Amino acid sequence: MAIATLLALILLFKRLEAGPVPSPASDRPCVNFMLPVPATAQNAEYDIIHVNDNINATAYAVDLDTWSFNATSRVLRNITVSDTFDISVQLCVPPNGIKKQNLFIATHGGLFDKRYWDPAINPSEYSFVDAALAGGYSILTYDRLGTGSSDKPDAYTIVQAPLQLEILRSITNMARSGELLKHTAGNADSAGTTVSATSANTFKGSDVSLDKIIHVGHSFGSVLTTAFLATYGNLSDAAVITGYILNEHFAEMRKATFGLEYAPQNNMTLFGDRSSGYMVDGTLGGFQTVFFSTQADATTGIGGFDTEVLDYAFSIRQTITTSEFLPPPVNLGAAPQFEGPLQFMLAEFDYPICRGDCNLHFDPATFQKLYPKAKDIDIYTQQGNGHALTMHRKANLGYKATLDWLDRNGF
Ligand SMILES: *[C@@H]1O[C@H](CO)[C@@H](O)[C@H](O)[C@H]1NC(C)=O
Ligand SMILES: *[C@@H]1O[C@H](CO)[C@@H](O)[C@H](O)[C@H]1NC(C)=O
Ligand SMILES: *[C@@H]1O[C@H](CO)[C@@H](O)[C@H](O)[C@H]1NC(C)=O
Ligand SMILES: *[C@@H]1O[C@H](CO)[C@@H](O)[C@H](O)[C@H]1NC(C)=O
Ligand SMILES: *[C@@H]1O[C@H](CO)[C@@H](O)[C@H](O)[C@H]1NC(C)=O
Repeated sequence: MAIATLLALILLFKRLEAGPVPSPASDRPCVNFMLPVPATAQNAEYDIIHVNDNINATAYAVDLDTWSFNATSRVLRNITVSDTFDISVQLCVPPNGIKKQNLFIATHGGLFDKRYWDPAINPSEYSFVDAALAGGYSILTYDRLGTGSSDKPDAYTIVQAPLQLEILRSITNMARSGELLKHTAGNADSAGTTVSATSANTFKGSDVSLDKIIHVGHSFGSVLTTAFLATYGNLSDAAVITGYILNEHFAEMRKATFGLEYAPQNNMTLFGDRSSGYMVDGTLGGFQTVFFSTQADATTGIGGFDTEVLDYAFSIRQTITTSEFLPPPVNLGAAPQFEGPLQFMLAEFDYPICRGDCNLHFDPATFQKLYPKAKDIDIYTQQGNGHALTMHRKANLGYKATLDWLDRNGF
């Protein structure tokens, strides 16, 4: 504890040393609240190893890695899940933002929560939320079901990709209809001001209509965003797929590499509220292997990471469920209804996605076939980065590439 406090002070001091902090949390036009999200999905019940300890967490991963494993034949029955889930969101609308009617909806990947987009360490270099706000955009980040402060229902039957997709759709519809902003009333914004239900402008900037939605995902969040484009393409105005692209080395990394542990056994303080089937990256080493690149790009020197950021990322690690780790039973194919611009933001040294080297020849024509009406399909590689793009040195250069590309496309 004392070491953590000391580290926090050192980091704060470093920030002060570096000059004025551009966007201290308390000055941000953001409000955090629980959003009740109705969703209905077709999930399935699977014949998989149940995880109530670390021994079974490892057995589970090895089972899925076994060459003859077949997820389809493990389906015991299909189930319809329909409920209203409490989802923890952070909504930021810059009152004077010139692009504030454009709302990012950001879906984080596995083993993180919404803090993935908004690291508390040196935000001007790492926070995508701060970059979006500085560009004048609005941004909503949320804890996917089963993570952070959101509901954490049954790992086997409820927390699955098809339901996560429907939650994303429901949040998108609430943003489009204006219902999202109504839910800000009664909550305190990050400056501590309680947002009044009667005065529309108490939440700074909430008088805006959020009429263009830019979906951004990372990793498993990009899988969900890809499924969203394929299934509900006309509900998205632009999309940024980060840390995910189909390629010849995709999914070569084995699930056992994560070093999964049963979450409550890994750390009761952090994960005492997780039930059977919730797992976490157990060790700092396993976490680094999947998410971090040790090397900077040879030419630019960009990338690599600071050990404080690795430690920070591990301290905010989150869980994934047994069912979420199965090959996602959602449509990851063509998106004939999606008509917006589309960017793939890749990490040069992404281990889980490209087995460590994304310097591959991606053929834009292939993607145009999948996204026949998409405009300006851009494939950008952030130099020297590992899978957790927001946690590598000069992460903000990648954010600039995304914001410049959006600007070129009229957003
Ligand atoms: C481990 O998995 C086996 C097979 O699914 C199951 O019978 C057993 O109850 C599990 N034990 C724990 C502690 O999870
Ligand atoms: C997986 O199982 C399903 C259903 O049992 C079967 O139709 C399919 O061919 C199997 N896939 C492979 C690759 O064996
Ligand atoms: C579950 O539903 C899918 C179609 O969505 C179907 O192909 C499959 O056979 C069903 N499985 C079972 C076990 O009912
Ligand atoms: C999207 O397309 C579906 C039909 O595929 C239609 O029912 C829906 O109204 C459309 N939504 C918008 C916002 O255009
Ligand atoms: C659990 O996590 C807390 C908070 O990060 C930490 O202080 C504690 O040392 C951890 N406990 C174990 C057993 O690792």
